[in-house]
Amino acid sequence: MTATKTLSQETIDIIKSTVPVLAKHGEAITKRFYQMMFTNHPELLNIFNHANQKQGRQPKALANSVYAAAAYIDNLEAIIPVVRQIAHKHRSLNVKAEHYPIVGKHLLLAIKDVLGDAATDDIINAWAEAYEVIADVFISVEREMYEEAERKAGGWKEFRKFTVAKKEQESDVITSFYLRPTDGEEISDFLPGQYISIKAVIDGEEYTHIRQYSLSDVAKKGYYRISVKREDGRDDIPAGIVSTYLHHDVNEGDILEVTAPAGEFVLNTESDRPVVLLSGGVGQTPMISMLKTLVDSAPEKQVTYIHAAINSKYHALGEEVTAVVSESNNVDYYVVYEQPTDEDRSMQNYQKEGYIDLDWLKSVVKNNDAEFYFCGPVPFMKVINQSLKEWGVPQEQIHFEFFGPAGDLDK
Ligand SMILES: Cc1cc2nc3c(=O)[nH]c(=O)nc-3n(C[C@H](O)[C@H](O)[C@H](O)COP(=O)(O)OP(=O)(O)OC[C@H]3O[C@@H](n4cnc5c(N)ncnc54)[C@H](O)[C@@H]3O)c2cc1C
Ligand code: HEM
Repeated sequence: MTATKTLSQETIDIIKSTVPVLAKHGEAITKRFYQMMFTNHPELLNIFNHANQKQGRQPKALANSVYAAAAYIDNLEAIIPVVRQIAHKHRSLNVKAEHYPIVGKHLLLAIKDVLGDAATDDIINAWAEAYEVIADVFISVEREMYEEAERKAGGWKEFRKFTVAKKEQESDVITSFYLRPTDGEEISDFLPGQYISIKAVIDGEEYTHIRQYSLSDVAKKGYYRISVKREDGRDDIPAGIVSTYLHHDVNEGDILEVTAPAGEFVLNTESDRPVVLLSGGVGQTPMISMLKTLVDSAPEKQVTYIHAAINSKYHALGEEVTAVVSESNNVDYYVVYEQPTDEDRSMQNYQKEGYIDLDWLKSVVKNNDAEFYFCGPVPFMKVINQSLKEWGVPQEQIHFEFFGPAGDLDK
């Protein structure tokens, strides 16, 4: 990676000394930034998640990462791994180079607006230069990702039409959709753990809505399978837009627009260690893809799969997993039900009741020298992360995916 522009030492000094000021006013700047940007460019509401906006989740992520990048302005190589992770999401959302100046312009306007006279011309000019350098890094990483997505056998660059070949209810709240390319051509392989984005064009909705879904089956099947949890609303919380649209309105034969598989939450194929997969609720989707891939392609590998669900009514794809596990002598499978039903109790179709805790984890996994992968609701992920750290699992062996904007599991 080479920055296209070199910043003067003076500019670098201004940036570094003002990062804390901007970060302190982060929330106000971010709010103003989005207000102004969406007023001037309402078309961007086709890309951004409105629920994240309302809950202030992603807005913080974007601005905070600009400040975080700025703190490394003289050593941007150091943040490339973080940039790559965000760039996967951007590529999957079809974010384009031409969007960057729009974001930059409104970030600077918001900084001026919030800081008032404290935002001198020197400060604003330094931030304009810094933003350009940071944006160039993202743009060049994303350009390579678009090219790679297109170059792959069966690959494509932006959105491609897929037909729902099969829709299958997997539990009270989770339904799978088998997607085949409408053009009947090949589709690219993916790594287990990767996701696709769906662009929902919904009758009566002013904007399109794009969401990510992890692929819940293995590659090379001629279809992509996603398994979607229906996010019903409750009290004053509106129902999820895309998940309810998929459940209620999308049927076999319908067409959806999809971007090519993306994401870095994938199996570390360099590691010889045993693998432990842990999922909560619909966080099972990437795990099932990983589990099936391991059983197919690394049958000697010792794998433990632990899945937590409320009970069997919410537990999707259980029979499929049981069938896969039975093909292998090297997979241990445990089901944890938070609130087993009477039927669950009489069938004893689970191994633990309640929540996963470290003592129980140690009793079933035994060896902490493993690669740990987990995904699920944020509180679940926090408990698992904390437990693994307490157990002394090194950070490099802990891998996880957020089903929303990335957050901090330590807070
Ligand atoms: C990498 C990745 C992989 C994913 N894989 C999967 C997967 O395999 N399966 C799956 O089901 N999901 C997956 N997701 C989540 C998925 O992308 C969507 O976020 C999910 O389907 C909800 O989208 P929605 O449009 O239904 O809800 P949205 O409309 O985006 O709303 C999100 C949530 O916020 C609530 N909400 C809406 N408005 C408000 C408000 N004003 N105040 C408070 N709460 C509000 C909704 O009820 C809903 O629960 C993944 C996400 C990522 C990032
Ligand atoms: C240097 C500039 C940028 C930075 C540092 C940045 C950073 C981020 C970060 C940290 C996330 C959260 C990733 C996650 O899901 O964990 C994100 C998501 C996202 N970004 Fe960017 N971004 C930049 C530019 C852009 C541009 C130009 C666009 C398009 C206009 C864009 C659109 C989005 C969208 C739509 C999301 C998904 C989350 C949502 O919809 O709420 N970003 N970005």
